[in-house]
Amino acid sequence: MKVLLIGSGGREHALAWKIAQSPLLEEFYAAPGNPGIADHATLVSLNVEDHAAVIAFAKEKAIDFVVIGPEAPLVAGLADDLRAAGIATFGPSKAAAQLEGSKGFTKDLCARYDIPTGAYQRFKTAEPAKQYVREQGAPIVIKADGLAAGKGVTVAMTETEALAAIDECFDGAFGSAGAEVVVEAFLDGEEASFFCLSDGKTALALATAQDHKRVGDGDTGPNTGGMGAYSPAPVMTAAMVERTMKEIIEPTISGMAKDGNPFSGVFFAGLMITAKGPELIEYNVRFGDPECQVLMMRLKSDLLPILYATATGTLDKVEAEWRDDAALTVVLASKGYPGAYDKNTPIAHIPDAREEAKVFHAGTALKDGRLVATGGRVLNVTAFGKNVTEAQARAYALTDKVEWENGFCRRDIGWQAVAREKA
Ligand code: AMP
Ligand code: GLY
Repeated sequence: MKVLLIGSGGREHALAWKIAQSPLLEEFYAAPGNPGIADHATLVSLNVEDHAAVIAFAKEKAIDFVVIGPEAPLVAGLADDLRAAGIATFGPSKAAAQLEGSKGFTKDLCARYDIPTGAYQRFKTAEPAKQYVREQGAPIVIKADGLAAGKGVTVAMTETEALAAIDECFDGAFGSAGAEVVVEAFLDGEEASFFCLSDGKTALALATAQDHKRVGDGDTGPNTGGMGAYSPAPVMTAAMVERTMKEIIEPTISGMAKDGNPFSGVFFAGLMITAKGPELIEYNVRFGDPECQVLMMRLKSDLLPILYATATGTLDKVEAEWRDDAALTVVLASKGYPGAYDKNTPIAHIPDAREEAKVFHAGTALKDGRLVATGGRVLNVTAFGKNVTEAQARAYALTDKVEWENGFCRRDIGWQAVAREKA
């Protein structure tokens, strides 16, 4: 099979690393890719926003299968255009990607099909939203409707904070993403991420993970794209996974199909495990970054036929096998992230990882033959262990061997699971 992978982050490096192990793979390209991905695939400097250029390249190379990593090209309809050109593609249509692209869309779907989620209202102007907040009281959650790079959500512990967040959205802090606001009940519990494939009819549960969104140790400071993750998430017991499939994923698949937007791709369900059970916080329509890195480490099966089956409606023919071990990844980021940071800082050394570990590249580039950091999140040091405590020790031992002066990381990735394992 000739494969083209779209994307350039740590998630895509993990996907590339795993796809490259497939005996089915004949040729492998990545656009735009990164220096880590270059170990596995030929990098192509395509402008991914130019769908015609992507299709022309795919035709020229007789690509059989395109795997889209990030959400932006999905929301922009790249999967639709590739499929219209007759190219099998992993990733949902533009219409189905609204599950991530519009929080209001997802909440309405939940309401229509009885999927457990926090009670909510949608607003196009500030005053009625404020009135609703005054009626409901705090804590309460204010969300910009559209894609806001993970920054459009305020979990307001006071009414004043909630009212300010409403003004912020309507004053344009998140651009057009904030033109509509969702006000949602605060859900109390432990968060977990659940990953599940669907070809529009069949579901194949993958695995669970927990992310660390805040930049600082002890879950402090501003939100980021994710500073580290581990899999599996202990709160997602077999019984909780079963309930999630039945109460959340299955009604989503059938509801989307019924509404004329069949979903093909990966569901990344952000869940709150409350006293009532699993409730949906949000859907993403692509793998999590850095959750994907720990999932790919734990996946024993060949990834390529699983993704291809998802894209071609034959998911009922494949299975996914997982290592029982825990995997944990530590994100090394540029000092200053998620705020402003220096670019092109030199990375002097990345240690050799053995079988039990792997360093994935995210925001790196080669400049005059030297490896430099170009992004906020730069490297993902990932390791296995018989439990999270062991995976954590191994990941940090390897992290400490990275020589990059402008880098930093959280020192407590996995703390909740480690505390559980100690108890
Ligand atoms: P989101 O961008 O929707 O994932 O929200 C970002 C974060 O805000 C989530 O990971 C949760 O920690 C928190 N959050 C979102 N919605 C709620 C809610 N209804 N109740 C409590 N916390 C929430
Ligand atoms: N790590 C969270 C995300 O990929 O959205």
